[in-house]
Amino acid sequence: MQTVRLGRTEARVSVAGLGCGGHSRLGMARGASSDEAADIVRRAIDLGVTFIDTAHSYGTEEAVGLGIAGHDRSKLFLSTKSSVGRGQSQDNPDYLRPAEFTASLEESLRKLGTDYVDLFHLHGVSAEQLPYAREVIVPELRRQQELGKVRFVGVTEVFRYDTGHAMLQQAVPTDDFDVVMTGFNILNPGARRTVFPLTIAHDIGTLIMFAVRRGLNSVANAAEAVAELVERGEIDPELVDRQDPLGFLRAAPGVKSQVEAAYRFCRHEPGAHVVLTGTGSAAHLEENIAAILAASLPSELLGRLDAIFGAVTSASGE
Ligand SMILES: NC(=O)c1ccc[n+]([C@@H]2O[C@H](COP(=O)([O-])OP(=O)(O)OC[C@H]3O[C@@H](n4cnc5c(N)ncnc54)[C@H](OP(=O)(O)O)[C@@H]3O)[C@@H](O)[C@H]2O)c1
Repeated sequence: MQTVRLGRTEARVSVAGLGCGGHSRLGMARGASSDEAADIVRRAIDLGVTFIDTAHSYGTEEAVGLGIAGHDRSKLFLSTKSSVGRGQSQDNPDYLRPAEFTASLEESLRKLGTDYVDLFHLHGVSAEQLPYAREVIVPELRRQQELGKVRFVGVTEVFRYDTGHAMLQQAVPTDDFDVVMTGFNILNPGARRTVFPLTIAHDIGTLIMFAVRRGLNSVANAAEAVAELVERGEIDPELVDRQDPLGFLRAAPGVKSQVEAAYRFCRHEPGAHVVLTGTGSAAHLEENIAAILAASLPSELLGRLDAIFGAVTSASGE
């Protein structure tokens, strides 16, 4: 496994991170048991993964707790999250009070079977929620940090709505957060222009979500995502094969698959520290970690991707 310095946290973590949410939730979204999900966690640790990301809302914290049991806690970097608002609405949030937020942290610690988390994120914060998050919840988390229950404080965006990274562009310069999680992928590499220059300047640890998601996990889904971008006038139809827009990647020497190319694309982006991979399949996990550890895509492929997708800001690949 390759490791990376997670920005100013100075922690060294694996470049491949296990994502315990997303559409798979370690397979639990398809009915896997906690024990089966814990097997994915164990396999990831066996393969050298030290960064594990879960959340209160994923329903996988107990499985992570089972999976890490018996491992040296100090060698693992556990990341979990709680939302600052109840419900789904970004516009009219019903905010959690600090004591409720702390109760959520305590519940996460109990489910994970640990007395501290390395990273506690404010989960899926919108630009509208950011002032409340900073003024009310961050100070509470800093108190928990002083008590030793949280090592670092992070924030994650809601990439499927905030495809232009409005929240992170405001949050990063405040220096309130040690680590951020951003969406970044072949379909929408906009973080390259709007987020990474800021995280690099502020030396903030940066986690990548949505490397593959649905939009890139099959040829048909990529074709559908590209059709929408053509429809919205965000990409030039002359530059893509509408049936198989990323076929040129698979045809290139040394590229194993569209999914492999998607993880490699993220891993070598300047400013990206940990690439998260979410799966309920041990075979996918092994392939994906190998992809994250593989060499950068050749520069001619990166140039072609940039020509096609470089100006996209509206897609997430959800
Ligand atoms: N706002 C937030 O805070 C937020 C939002 C979203 C995600 N996240 C975090 O980011 C992590 C990563 O996002 P993600 O889970 O969406 O991960 P991802 O790695 O971008 O995509 C995972 C999806 O692709 C499929 N897949 C994985 N490997 C594959 C392969 N080799 N071949 C074909 N399909 C494959 C998975 O299904 P299978 O199970 O079939 O492999 C799953 O549906 C999440 O788990 C979560 O920890 C955070």
